[in-house]
Amino acid sequence: MGDKAFQQCINPDCARTFAVTEVLSQCPDCANLLDVRYDWDRIEIPKRLSDFEKRLSSARDPLDSSGVWRFRELLDFAPPAQVVTLGEGRTLLGSASSRVADYAGVKPGNLFLQYEGLNPSGSFKDNGMTAAFTHARMVGAKVGACASTGNTSASLALFAAQSGLMRAIVFVGGGKIAFGKLAQALESGALTLQIDGDFDDAMARVRDVAAAKGIYLVNSLNPFRLEGQKTIMYRVLEGLGWEVPDWVVCPGGNLGNSSAFGKAFLELRELGLIPRVPRLAVVNAAGARTLYRLVEEKHVAWNDGRVDDAAVERDYREMDRRKERAHTVASAIEINRPVNLKKCLRALAVTHGLVREVSDEEILDAKAQIGSGGLGCEPAAAASLAGLKRLVAEQVISPGDRVVCVLTGHVLKDPGVSVDYHSLSVEEFRAKYAGKFDVRKLSFQNRPVRVPNDLETILRTLEECL
Ligand code: F0G
Repeated sequence: MGDKAFQQCINPDCARTFAVTEVLSQCPDCANLLDVRYDWDRIEIPKRLSDFEKRLSSARDPLDSSGVWRFRELLDFAPPAQVVTLGEGRTLLGSASSRVADYAGVKPGNLFLQYEGLNPSGSFKDNGMTAAFTHARMVGAKVGACASTGNTSASLALFAAQSGLMRAIVFVGGGKIAFGKLAQALESGALTLQIDGDFDDAMARVRDVAAAKGIYLVNSLNPFRLEGQKTIMYRVLEGLGWEVPDWVVCPGGNLGNSSAFGKAFLELRELGLIPRVPRLAVVNAAGARTLYRLVEEKHVAWNDGRVDDAAVERDYREMDRRKERAHTVASAIEINRPVNLKKCLRALAVTHGLVREVSDEEILDAKAQIGSGGLGCEPAAAASLAGLKRLVAEQVISPGDRVVCVLTGHVLKDPGVSVDYHSLSVEEFRAKYAGKFDVRKLSFQNRPVRVPNDLETILRTLEECL
């Protein structure tokens, strides 16, 4: 590498060359565009194109190139010919920037981010949806439905549109879904029902409808979904050279992911494939804190499968009596009756895990930090980093621990909240989301700068800002 490549003006009458280390957006002589060119004689090109293929040894096999089905022996429920895959799960564990690690209070190099925003529909849901669709194909389902805070619906809509296997119906709470996600469902042609109410209402309704009409439900109630989501943890281990981290931190909404992660580690331990399991930290938004309240305040636990159902029922009745509805800026996890509660309690038992709650302000600040560290994510995803920061401050997680935060969804899922965070004053922000979100400061704003269309002023402004 290095001097084998250069830049060259695309104007053949000029053809001036520049080193690759020069930073130019056009040719300084003739103002034409530049190419990157190569001195091929100095580069060892593989003899055959097929030599490139060896690096991704079986990329032609759609099963091997899926980050889910690559691990198919660990979710061996379908004949390979039935698998419905869109190349989901091609996501990699990355080391967090030292800025993000510092923010959390973890030693640089010890914090890893599993960025699931890179999936085909932009969230971790595709890991589960491929498994659900595979199963749906096995059983000959023709219509698939879900209730959703947005990402499950986007994933269902995308898989339905691409595979042609099922018609998609999505139930969303009216006004409760981030714009990017709603756009995805509509664009992919899903029948989109906006219910008066929130996710918990939509979830209850879709279960009734699925039962009444024999529709295939793809919510994480569907156990096949979670089989696919186990593979997120396999990729985490793979990214760490098969070493088990000390902690995995993830947001908690309907609790499918945390349940799947716990199952993944439980099975790997049973199979003797890992020597120990990491600890799991599940992070609720403070405005949707059912898991936190049940586990950390009321000490409801898995208890070898004997969960105190009466305590849960009582808690839900009290919640209804208080007329408490979930409300958080992290709309993806705006859920008060998580359907996978029990499986999550099992996961917490298996992993000696714990639950934390974080405010909307902590979520938004963590999100801005993740963004400035180079990976944009949506608010719910950032709850993981916010939760980690708390756990380090509480000295539950120590700076020397190796920690993985799962970033569950892409920044473009909810662009509105990013723009508002960065461009509004606190007063404007609070007024816009009147009484909804608990935000007193917008600490890491990157405000857009308004300038007249005048070169002098722009140059002066740049000097002031840089
Ligand atoms: N992060 C994102 C980006 C999500 O979309 C969700 C859930 C979660 C975290 C929580 O994961 O439910 O497994 O605990 N979204 C669901 C949906 C509820 O409908 O898209 P969980």
